[in-house]
Amino acid sequence: MLFRKQAPATPWAAAGRDKYSRNKEAPCFFIFNDTPNYRLNCNFVYLFVFLFAWFLLLLCWFPPTNTKTHTTQGLEGYASHVNDTKSLAPSIRTCDGSVSVYVYSLPAEFNVGLVEDCHHLNVYTDMCPHVANRGLGQPRPEMGSGAASWFVTHQFIAEMIFHARVENHPCRTWDPARADLFYVPFYGGLHASSKFRESDLIARDALAVRLADYLEGQPWWHRHHGKDHFLALGRTAWDFMRTDSGPDFGANCLLNLPAVQNMSVLTVERNPWQGRHQFGIPYPSYFHPSTWDEMLTWQNKVRLSERPHLWSFIGGPRKGLEKAAVREKIMAQCAESSRCKLVKCESGASECHEPSQVLGVMTKSQFCMQAAGDSFTRRSTFDAILAGCIPVFFSPHTAYTQYGWFLPEDRSAYSMYIDEKGSGSERIEEELLKISEEKLKRMRERVVDAIPRLTYAHPNASDVGFKDAVDVALAALSKHVSES
Ligand SMILES: *[C@@H]1O[C@H](CO)[C@@H](O)[C@H](O)[C@H]1NC(C)=O
Ligand SMILES: *[C@@H]1O[C@H](CO)[C@@H](O)[C@H](O)[C@H]1NC(C)=O
Ligand SMILES: *[C@@H]1O[C@H](CO)[C@@H](O)[C@H](O)[C@H]1NC(C)=O
Repeated sequence: MLFRKQAPATPWAAAGRDKYSRNKEAPCFFIFNDTPNYRLNCNFVYLFVFLFAWFLLLLCWFPPTNTKTHTTQGLEGYASHVNDTKSLAPSIRTCDGSVSVYVYSLPAEFNVGLVEDCHHLNVYTDMCPHVANRGLGQPRPEMGSGAASWFVTHQFIAEMIFHARVENHPCRTWDPARADLFYVPFYGGLHASSKFRESDLIARDALAVRLADYLEGQPWWHRHHGKDHFLALGRTAWDFMRTDSGPDFGANCLLNLPAVQNMSVLTVERNPWQGRHQFGIPYPSYFHPSTWDEMLTWQNKVRLSERPHLWSFIGGPRKGLEKAAVREKIMAQCAESSRCKLVKCESGASECHEPSQVLGVMTKSQFCMQAAGDSFTRRSTFDAILAGCIPVFFSPHTAYTQYGWFLPEDRSAYSMYIDEKGSGSERIEEELLKISEEKLKRMRERVVDAIPRLTYAHPNASDVGFKDAVDVALAALSKHVSES
């Protein structure tokens, strides 16, 4: 009993089980060979034998199920489990050679120092629960399969997870001379959100300016004028591209600085018109698996999910924002249809952030509406794909002009586009019903196939066995840098 409880409760359930089943011969071997040596002391022997017999009984009672699991998984599954266990030691991991990335150890004020003050890191929200576990946030073990892999992850925290993943990446190099990419782990998004209300522009921009100065003082900057350097930001590019005209919504000037203009910038939303060096990366969703097994289990689960809702929308209204006008249409039409599930997100509504609630609706829906809101993109797009729900876009900038590295080139293969200004947006359900059952199945299969690339694997997982968002981004960026 004791053993059964211990193993699966840890984040390393799979590894723990393996250690357990691989060790099972050891106590058995010991008892049969060595107990005779202790015959001199009867009491000792009785106690010993009794305890070991009990031990043996427990061991022999439970392991057969584990062993069976392994054999039914086939040799491959078994081998990768064994390697998982071993690969907790970093030396076992291997880089596939697609990239060699050097990570700057920046002064603390640019990353970990910011997180220390997590209560004041965002003018709207206490970020302390969200920066926990290196940005994964608070664990949600009750999510079921892969219990240690579910977290209430904040939508604007990709930069922290990215940092944790790259630090632990097998293609990380400690020798800048061997690097083809230089990662600058600045938590620019977290910093920006702490300064939205700073009216003194010099003060708002100060940290970004110090970062540029710091980089220009580094020997490796000068080799390629920073062209092989990159940032990963968890907020949209708009938060770092203040314009002199137009209203001030709190942005700083980071992406306008000459040094940063020479770099590549990964961001959850790029500026589709001025974002030559900007590359879209996924918003983090809630699933951060450590093994390929967990990923396959989840993919199968969403494939088989019953989907009683033809369509659904989870979101709130946006007053007075032109790009969000389509939200009104969606909400009105959804509320009127018995085939649509509407989850209205009023300020702070928890059902809009709780993984079980969000995914509960999305895994029961065929189509998930992805209307622009405060900006073009939404984290919800990635929750929907994770749930195997076909995304419906109303602007090309919600995904198509953003995540070219991650999504299938053929838009209609995995998503539906309804022009927000076209007549289709007046009768969404009719448009959705035009898709045949066959086509729908094919689209959903493409959506489910896209899940691994859009997922941020658990940063402590050394060899997850699939290419996650960070692997894909590093390989694509390396290719981009070498070609330019
Ligand atoms: C496991 O690791 C060993 C070496 O450590 C390697 O030879 C073997 O191919 C690996 N197996 C799998 C399935 O990755
Ligand atoms: C990763 O592992 C280290 C060492 O075991 C642990 O301290 C840390 O909390 C883990 N990180 C996460 C995000 O779970
Ligand atoms: C940016 O790159 C150009 C060459 O393309 C170089 O002349 C310039 O000095 C670089 N800027 C900085 C700030 O390093």
